[in-house]
Amino acid sequence: MRKIIMDVDTGTDDAIAIMCALAAEELDVVAICSVNGNRGITYTTENTLRLLEYLGREEVPVYKGAHLPMVSTLPAWRRPEVPYGGKEFREMEIHGDWLELPPSVNKKAEDMDAVSFYIKYLSEAKEKVTIVPVGPLTNLALAFRAKPEIVENIEEIVIMGAAYAHGNKTAAAEFNWWCDPEAAKIVMDCGAKITVIPLDATHKACVKGSEADIIEAGGTKACLAAADMIKQRIRGYSTFQPMGDDMAPVHDALAVLYMLDPQVCEDVRPMYVDVDFGGGNSDGMSIVDVDKRYYDREPNCDFAFSANREKFVALLTKLLKAR
Ligand code: RIB
Ligand code: CA
Repeated sequence: MRKIIMDVDTGTDDAIAIMCALAAEELDVVAICSVNGNRGITYTTENTLRLLEYLGREEVPVYKGAHLPMVSTLPAWRRPEVPYGGKEFREMEIHGDWLELPPSVNKKAEDMDAVSFYIKYLSEAKEKVTIVPVGPLTNLALAFRAKPEIVENIEEIVIMGAAYAHGNKTAAAEFNWWCDPEAAKIVMDCGAKITVIPLDATHKACVKGSEADIIEAGGTKACLAAADMIKQRIRGYSTFQPMGDDMAPVHDALAVLYMLDPQVCEDVRPMYVDVDFGGGNSDGMSIVDVDKRYYDREPNCDFAFSANREKFVALLTKLLKAR
């Protein structure tokens, strides 16, 4: 089994990604780290806890992470709306504040914070682990800043984030990298084997409402919850980022499914990807060097420029029905 640590800003697609990872026999989810992103850290942590309790997977430890990006909120003008949460952020009803599941009762976050966990676990690990960040990269970047040698115990970092041809939070930037651009830069330069699953791929793997109905008919707790979340996402996307008839991307799940069947992504190429940070107009933009203008830089990741929607939906449905 492949050991993985997920780093999440649980919202709806993070939740579906977690359900898929827990259902996959090939994966051993060692721990889940929460981070500020879709919502503030209180929301993303509780949403992760309540999901695990709902699934009966309380044994998976949750480590609460950074409540703010590394530096992007320091100048008030740069990220005035971060951390998210509460009434001032209604536009993003893709996630809501709380997952529509019963609040957690017994499941609590560990005492240790996520950054300390990364440093301790990766310093002591006897076998390498894959990190799967599907939110802003703050936790991992802070751990690298404190103890860079922990990268030696990382098998691979499979990131949902970035974009070549799209932005979603701004015209230039994908949300996870926009939220904490400096963290994205630190992680992209860390030297580990990295696979990036960007919007270019996730937007080609949208799930239809009719397919959510099929998932719902699967009847498992994961099927029922995921189907509701997909339909919520379709409503949210149709309101302010239409993706075509009655469908929505489930970004984070594609990162998990790529580990299980790489053919769910297509046109995956070694690429040097830089990050614009510091607060300009294209703050958080992933600069994908498709024409190798950075002559002196070797590729720092495999970058998935596309996806196979049918393969993705089939595997997603199979995993959700499994548990
Ligand atoms: O841009 C999509 C990403 O931002 C997804 O991870 C979603 O959950 C949000 O975090
Ligand atoms: Ca996410």
